Amino acid sequence: MTEQKVPGSELYTDEFAADPYPAYARLREEAPVCPVSSRRFDSYLITRFEDAKAALTDSRLSKDLYGPDKHYIRIFGPNSEGLNRNMLNSDPPEHTRLRKIVSQAFAPRRIEALRPRVAEIVDNLLDKIVPHGQAELMHDFAIPLPMMVICELLGIPETDHDRVLGWTQVIRTSGSSGRPPEEERAAVQEAQLQLTHYLTDLVRVKREHPADDMISALIESSEHGGNLSESELVPTTFLLLFAGHQTTADFLGNATVALLTNPDQLELLHADPELLPSAIEELLRFDGPLPVASPRIAMEDLEYQGVCIPRGSIVGVVINAANHDPEQFAEPDRLDFRRERGPHIGFGHGVHYCLGVSLARMEARIGIGALLRRLPDLRLAVPAAELRRLPAASPFRGLLELPVVFRA
Ligand code: HEM
Repeated sequence: MTEQKVPGSELYTDEFAADPYPAYARLREEAPVCPVSSRRFDSYLITRFEDAKAALTDSRLSKDLYGPDKHYIRIFGPNSEGLNRNMLNSDPPEHTRLRKIVSQAFAPRRIEALRPRVAEIVDNLLDKIVPHGQAELMHDFAIPLPMMVICELLGIPETDHDRVLGWTQVIRTSGSSGRPPEEERAAVQEAQLQLTHYLTDLVRVKREHPADDMISALIESSEHGGNLSESELVPTTFLLLFAGHQTTADFLGNATVALLTNPDQLELLHADPELLPSAIEELLRFDGPLPVASPRIAMEDLEYQGVCIPRGSIVGVVINAANHDPEQFAEPDRLDFRRERGPHIGFGHGVHYCLGVSLARMEARIGIGALLRRLPDLRLAVPAAELRRLPAASPFRGLLELPVVFRA
């Protein structure tokens, strides 16, 4: 077996944050299974498409972070149970049980019924933007759209949206405030604590006053043989809240930049709006918001591409590198809405495949469709290279700000 050299120096730099794809290409070529150290933890990165798919369904790679070995401590820190002990961090059969309960509450009927409301939220946000001729699209559009949708779906009262958004944004933008790391960590822990208290209180209120929303549905299923314990309600709600807006917000931002920096594809979409569903999938393949799948743990010594991944190692499946693998996608670094639709893994693969995929697609199609229709001459207000991004070590790929201009 061969030990690969660590090309770590090129990962987690500002240059990497601006454009990680050249570094991913080198990893795929030279070190497709590569040990790396980030500010957060040491891990093995898997970057080729076929390996990524295999790893995401490899039962020797566990997501059971809260089992007896307490792997969560290395990943989320010691006090993370209250928010993160949820389906994403568990294995079957635990995962199967948790996912089944949420899937019921997440029934396609409930999601489809949201369509007019999603369109209304999009229109209201754009109504506020259109007269000004300029906007900061992350804060004016990409973040509030999925945030409002998931809050309404869960049943988080509108008067609390700003507070909740404040906490989730501290978690999302961690590492970008310019403050010393200890201060930053303390701020994230404080936000997590506040959010835990808030969601715990909300679950209590919903138990006493059930409404037609998802938290009430989860409570009901926990009380009527649905087998969701009290202590699982808050982390499950947190997962839906966080996964439900963070990824979609970053996707809307990344997708807009990709469109504005690929005028031929933008023109194509203007000329043929029917292409929108394929365009959304291609935009997700091209620059997805979750560059690395959530951490897996090697339950035994594993071998991928001749590299030994020792038992206990953290493994990161690099979704965005796999989605640019030339073995799977011809000219992978080219945005091409007419591309033969090869299956990307932007929504994951295997048992943890994104539970919110229908909602995410609906929001993206309605949101991007309306943005292009109502702001047809949309342009970046600064050169793409100057856009402020989440730091390279962030688990998310997204923008801190997206300044744009257009004809009012
Ligand atoms: C463009 C937007 C989105 C993207 C790119 C995305 C991507 C993903 C990916 C890659 C995973 C698998 C993670 C892994 O295996 O480590 C995942 C899981 C998940 N996503 Fe999404 N997601 C998006 C939107 C949403 C929305 C709107 C929701 C709604 C609540 C949601 C809820 C979830 C949940 C609950 C899981 C965990 C599923 C499980 O563990 O079985 N996601 N998502």
